[in-house]
Amino acid sequence: MWHYGCMQTNQTIETLLKHVSVREFTDEKVGDDQVELLLRSAQAAASSNFLQAYSIIEITDEELKEDLAALSGDQPFIATASNFFIFCADLHRNEELMIEKEVNISQQLEGADAFIVATVDASLAAQNLVVAAESMGLGTCYIGGVRENIVQISQLLELPNFVYPVFGVVVGHPAHRNAPKPRLPLDAVYSENRYNPDTIETMWEYDEALQDYYARRAREAARAAGEEAGEATPHRSWSQGIAHTFFAHPRRFMMKFLNRRGWLRN
Ligand SMILES: Cc1cc2nc3c(=O)[nH]c(=O)nc-3n(C[C@H](O)[C@H](O)[C@H](O)COP(=O)(O)O)c2cc1C
Repeated sequence: MWHYGCMQTNQTIETLLKHVSVREFTDEKVGDDQVELLLRSAQAAASSNFLQAYSIIEITDEELKEDLAALSGDQPFIATASNFFIFCADLHRNEELMIEKEVNISQQLEGADAFIVATVDASLAAQNLVVAAESMGLGTCYIGGVRENIVQISQLLELPNFVYPVFGVVVGHPAHRNAPKPRLPLDAVYSENRYNPDTIETMWEYDEALQDYYARRAREAARAAGEEAGEATPHRSWSQGIAHTFFAHPRRFMMKFLNRRGWLRN
């Protein structure tokens, strides 16, 4: 047992509280037995109506991995990780089974709720894999960048209708870990019985507090690179990041792509 503040925690909670995305890996490969355990952990996740509406595609072809790293918003570190899994929302398998049973559910699959069901299933499986990997001392990073060129990536992976890549997850032995990133104060994200509309002050305070974290991280990175601490480029603030996310990556092609693949048509 560990102690977190005055609360008693356990090893699982410690793993969760120590989470940090890792983007630098050693050359050491994750063992096949470990990979199997990761995949079985992913499969153990809860699943809406037990549809198991997701697929995990591991990229083992190094050339394909490099192509996908470039297509995923040019993130070369992806290709340096031991393993790269792409988590897809997938209702294709279920549709095929229904076709064999001569039950036409295509129209139902085209609804928004089916899209949510499959996306949530893929996300829960992925988070299980991430937690399992971190419990083994491995490092992970989600790669939403796979949606940057979703048309080309879906073609490369030969995804059928009712399958789309939600994100990737890289896994490997960490060469470097950042300090865990402070989260929003609990009272900004948690409320009782009704929504809390009064979070703006907390948000600004958090924005400022996170600047200190980013400044510290930039100083450490500069030091590691042998530069003067003063040369560290200031990181964009958390609030600037919100705008950047939606202006730099509006991904306006998404609805058209999803519609073409059968999703969200009604
Ligand atoms: C769905 C999703 C997609 C993400 N995509 C990327 C990505 O493409 N590249 C990347 O470097 N980090 C990516 N991240 C990692 C986030 O930037 C990271 O989780 C966040 O900044 C919090 O930092 P932490 O995970 O170290 O606590 C993604 C995270 C999630 C949940």
